[in-house]
Parts: sequence; C-alpha cells; structure tokens
Amino acid sequence: MNKKVLVMHGDGIGPEVTRQGLKVLNAVAPQAGLVLDLEDTLIGGAAYDETGSFLPSESLNKAKQADAILFGAVGGPKWAKLDGSETPEKGLLNLRKELDLFANLRPATVFSELVEASTLKQEVVEGTDLMVIRELTGGIYFGEPRGSIEVQGRKGSRNTMVYMEDEVERIIRVGFDMAGKRRNKLTSVDKSNVLDVSKMWRSIAERLASEYPGVELDHLYVDAAAMELIRDPRQFDTIVTGNLFGDILSDEASMLTGSIGMLPSASIGSEFALYEPIHGSAPDIAGQDKANPLASILSVGMMFRYTFGMPQIDEAIHSTVNSLLSKYRTPDIMVPGKKPVGCEEMGDMMLQELEQTQAIPAA
Ligand code: IPM
Ligand code: MG
Repeated sequence: MNKKVLVMHGDGIGPEVTRQGLKVLNAVAPQAGLVLDLEDTLIGGAAYDETGSFLPSESLNKAKQADAILFGAVGGPKWAKLDGSETPEKGLLNLRKELDLFANLRPATVFSELVEASTLKQEVVEGTDLMVIRELTGGIYFGEPRGSIEVQGRKGSRNTMVYMEDEVERIIRVGFDMAGKRRNKLTSVDKSNVLDVSKMWRSIAERLASEYPGVELDHLYVDAAAMELIRDPRQFDTIVTGNLFGDILSDEASMLTGSIGMLPSASIGSEFALYEPIHGSAPDIAGQDKANPLASILSVGMMFRYTFGMPQIDEAIHSTVNSLLSKYRTPDIMVPGKKPVGCEEMGDMMLQELEQTQAIPAA
C-alpha cells in the first residue's frame, strides 16, 4: 500500500518532536507493509518568515494531496500579536477549516507507568481511559460577526458562538460511533442552562440517541464536566463537545495523564486527516532537546489506526511507549530512578524498544 504523508513541522518544539514521530513512522511503515511518500512543507511562523503567509497556498495544496498530515506545533512570541492581525494560530485554524477537519479526537489515557506523574492522587487517575471528541471547525472559533465593535461611543470586541444543526449532528454521530467502539458511554457536554446553541446541541443529541440503542447517553454542563473530570475521571468513556469547551477540557484531561507532552490527537474530516500533539510550540524550551516527543509518536499511532486502518499498530506503539516509560523520562515526567533523556534520545529509545520487543511483527 502506498501512502502520501505530508509533514508540517511548524514552530518552537514542533520540528524536534515531529522528527521523532517521523522516525517511528519510517521504522514501522515497512513492517506494516506501507510504502511512504513523504514530503514536508511550511506552516505557521516558519512559513510567515519565508513567504509572508502563515498558511501559504502551496502548503494548503500539498495538504489536499496527502493521505495524512503529521503536524508539529505553531506559534511563538515572535509572531504573537494582539491587534487582531494574522497569527500562526490563525494558519492552523484556516488549515482545519479548509480541510474540513471537523472531528478532533483527543484520547487521554493514563499509562500505568505514569500514574505517579499526575498531580492528582494515584487512586483517582489510575486506569483513566477517555476520549474527548471536540468539534473543530465551527462554534465561537469561527462564528461571524467577530472583531472590534463600537456601540454608542463605547469600544469593544466580540465573537459569536454559532452552530448549524448539521454541524452538531455530524459531530455527535462521531461521538456515538466512537462510544460504540469503546465502552458504550457517551457524555455530551454543553452549557444548555445558559446558551441557545447548547440547547439545540442537547436536543440533537437526545434525538440521535434512539439510533444508537447500544450507547448510553448522558449530558453535563461544561462547568460540571470540568469538575467531574478531576473528581472522578474514570466515570468517562467518550465525551463529545463543541470547539471551545473541547479545547479547554482536553487540556484539563491531559493533566490526568501526567503531562500535556503525552497527548496525541487526530483531526478528521470526510476527505482529510491531520495528526498532531495537543501541546503547543512551547517556545521556552524550543531547540533545547527537552521536549517530550511521545505525543507526536502517539499521533503517528493514531495515523495508523484512523488513516491506514491498522489499529493493531497503534496498540503496539501504545504498549511500547508504556514499557519505554518504565526506563526513560523526558524532563516533564521525570521521577527519581528513571534515566533522564532528551527529545532525540527518547525517539531513539522508542525505536530500540520497538525492535527489542518485536512489538510489530514484520508484514
Ligand atoms: C489546540 C490549540 C489551538 C486551539 C490553538 C493553537 C489555535 O490550543 O489545538 O488545542 O485553540 O485549537
Ligand atoms: Mg488547546
């Protein structure tokens, strides 16, 4: 099988973590019977410096020709602006929108080797295995009107939370389907005690529930969900929610796992798919070989599952990461008794561990 993968390194720690993800992709692909056609292209601040655009049209065109995209991270103080003009983050948002990557899957799994790395008590987080499904191309991130306003001489600024019924329906269906493949429990998160958009969201979820009799649906307000996530994370299986709530809850969920440096994601639409760590570009540690590459490596695992249809490879990458963590740690998850390693060495050790454990049988 031939597959075209486009690599978008981006800014900050993006390039260093993505290089490790790529190492794993390159090592595993032949064993999985894949012939890769790899290409890279510019995105974010790095693209702006070269071309004057955070998402050059050439990059977008390449993205539209790829079977999957491996994405690093974008942004940094050099390009941050508060005056409403374009930013690297806007480049990423436009890419999501242009490719219609409406379903963002953000699994938060507590690796048994990492239970002690969480700031929460071991007995609370142990065994947590949940999936946040975040709507990614709508809601307040994209709603119009937006921007500066002036009302009766008072200056302000606004954003608009807007969802159309079909957008809500398609993401909630992803939630039901995912829950059906997991533990059959779907929690829909909204703010329907206040927001009209959420009232519609909840009624659509209720209506669809009858089509998925095997899945138990419940609802939580987003504030309660934020609380329940740290009170008793194991109660959750699949969570489905809108763009902004999903952004916030997925960062919160990442802390259950010990480090945001551990969380991969897949952004999937009807035609395209992009895989990226949920962490940002971390400019404070960029270029110092300190970043945790495991989120990028696990994102490659998700690529095998969702684009290449090989869940067994994702599982092998997952269990290899767990055994790796019993020996090596990057600074974000370091504890006494383990060997401290940098980003690059963690990638190398991952390859070694894959080889030693023969986690992936040759095709
Ligand atoms: C994320 C990030 C992005 C978002 C930023 C970088 C635009 O926080 O992927 O969660 O808000 O979606
Ligand atoms: Mg975020």
